[in-house]
Amino acid sequence: MSNVNSLDYLINQQYRRPNNLSARILLHQRYGTGAGNWYDFVLKQLCLKPEERLFAMGEGNGMQWRSGFAPGAQRNELFLSDLSLGMISEAALELNECSGVLCLCCDAQSAPFEAGQFDAVTAHHMLYHVPDPDKAIAEAVRLLKPTGRFLAATNGVGHMDGLSKLLIAFAPEDESCYRYSDSFTLEDGLVRLRRHFKVVERVDYLDDLWVTDASDLANYVFSMSATDGTISEIRRNELAAFFQSMIDKEGGIFIAKSTGILIGREPIS
Ligand SMILES: C[S@@+](CC[C@H](N)C(=O)[O-])C[C@H]1O[C@@H](n2cnc3c(N)ncnc32)[C@H](O)[C@@H]1O
Repeated sequence: MSNVNSLDYLINQQYRRPNNLSARILLHQRYGTGAGNWYDFVLKQLCLKPEERLFAMGEGNGMQWRSGFAPGAQRNELFLSDLSLGMISEAALELNECSGVLCLCCDAQSAPFEAGQFDAVTAHHMLYHVPDPDKAIAEAVRLLKPTGRFLAATNGVGHMDGLSKLLIAFAPEDESCYRYSDSFTLEDGLVRLRRHFKVVERVDYLDDLWVTDASDLANYVFSMSATDGTISEIRRNELAAFFQSMIDKEGGIFIAKSTGILIGREPIS
């Protein structure tokens, strides 16, 4: 089993603190070529109505809810959860002034709630970490009201392959090191969701990266679970110099993305 599904690695290393996730979010926010903001896109798909109750699996450090949204004013109840205490503690700290938000530490595969209580359950960019994604999706179905919906953001096949190719050129001896997880993609996730929902939809977020700062890209690489421990930390400056030589020549580094949200409606229980 690779790092990406190891509970021990996820809790005690990768997501022990929010710094790895923050390095990745920074790259997408700073160098995304898409027209709109990711969090606005997610909220638009979620379309949360007043009084609706939401349960978020693997919420991370709560970036989605930190700005431009006042849950109290929206009269919603948001239950934000994560496996990592370090991640969800930061969410709780940052959102402590928002009424209607409750943060809890739990595994997506077994949430401490009775069945049929939520209008929406989200699992954004986290199902590829769950050893058995179907178990977490089944848990979402259990938590949802019959009229409820499930939203899972994830990456498509080939997401950021351009970066993988650069890393293979940089460290050919570690060729297998840099691969995005294929355990829950937009493509296979669609098939999985069809086992649990009568109506399933895929909405793509159109965005790529044009990176103009070598150290931001190197920091991104060192934040990944796939490269963790494979490319040695002492090569960080060398990797940044490698990226910089490309930026000097081309003005930036283009990396194609494939990201979006899968939406399941009419849960099959
Ligand atoms: C890539 S981050 C995504 C965070 C946030 N949803 C976002 O989109 O920015 C993945 C998160 O899933 C959490 N996670 C991984 N496995 C989990 C599980 N089995 N149950 C709950 N959370 C989990 C990690 O701790 C981490 O915070």
